[in-house]
Amino acid sequence: MEKLHAVITGVAGFVPDYVLTNEELSHMVDTTDEWIMTRIGVKERRILNEEGLGTSYLARKACKRLLEKTGVDPDTIDCVIVTTSTADYQFPSCASIVIGKCGLKNAHAFEFSAACCGFLFAMDTVACMIESGRYKRVILIGADKMSSVVNYKDRATCPIFGDGAGAVLMEATTEEYGLMDSYLRTDGIGLPFLHLAAGGSVCPASHFTVDNGMHYIHQEGRTVYKYAVSNMCKCSTEVVKRNNLSNETINWVLPHQANMRIIEAVVSRLGVPMDKVMLNIQRYGNTSAACMPLCLWDYESQLKKGDNIVFTAFGAGFTHGAAYFKWGYNGDGTK
Ligand code: UT7
Repeated sequence: MEKLHAVITGVAGFVPDYVLTNEELSHMVDTTDEWIMTRIGVKERRILNEEGLGTSYLARKACKRLLEKTGVDPDTIDCVIVTTSTADYQFPSCASIVIGKCGLKNAHAFEFSAACCGFLFAMDTVACMIESGRYKRVILIGADKMSSVVNYKDRATCPIFGDGAGAVLMEATTEEYGLMDSYLRTDGIGLPFLHLAAGGSVCPASHFTVDNGMHYIHQEGRTVYKYAVSNMCKCSTEVVKRNNLSNETINWVLPHQANMRIIEAVVSRLGVPMDKVMLNIQRYGNTSAACMPLCLWDYESQLKKGDNIVFTAFGAGFTHGAAYFKWGYNGDGTK
């Protein structure tokens, strides 16, 4: 049997309408546009501020757009995976809600948790599913409503994050396109430095947890920054080396969008110019699992069949990794 690869054949995204600018943030906490732009690189972020809507709303909007855009028969989808850190509920999964709302009748659905590496790790899992021959078409959605866990009184975290969702259709191909290689790691040392303390089984919600702000992101920024740079550099250089890629043959780098300085450090290590880097951090901030598919959505029209893309990410855990992906179609619609 010919070897199967898993290739992305369509991309869509969704971000909520509300734009939270640095100007507005500077009236909420003691900060300035200049500080945020120099230290983080975010100009504005989107916030889902309608009551009663959660991450599954963002995810299903992206999924519906993907179905419409690709024209794929919904009955042929085998599986839907939503990767998120801000699920609607402890259970059932966001994926189960998405599948119901999108009317996908022949698929099963589940949630995938790897923080900001969710999309990268899940893409590798989907590739294994497709390469096994058991799955032909899988929808992978990265979605996060980070505003639901951000403390808008904490100036060190509130400028960073935003809400959004991106969805990709992944299909089997016998051609040499798709996910070629991944180098993924989780070292488990990250818990004290980046976590959401309450609401899980160790520390369920109580008056105490609410009174002490334990339902918000806790991040020790400098430590996370240091590990992010060193691990993203390590993983992406490893993937570049073992696939004989070079700054000449890499068409695009798609980094996690946490901090512009982290991105610049990683990209300069790879020796790739910034005009080959997919970026949406300025407009959306860190949308966690949604960063990568939202970038693909933004840059799709510029992508060409055969483009070599290096993905790299870092997140809570500490999860980290990189992947080499050969893009499978001309994003401008030409053959
Ligand atoms: O996606 C998951 C992974 N997450 C990341 O990759 C995030 C990694 N970390 C970072 O991106 C950066 O560490 C931050 C953006 C979170 C912080 O930037 P930093 O350059 O590391 O700043 P810092 O925490 O060392 O703080 C420097 C100063 C402090 O003041 P003092 O103590 O020097 O007087 C902070 O209080 O900047 C102050 N500060 C601010 N000032 C104005 C912190 N936040 C702000 C702010 N506006 N928003």
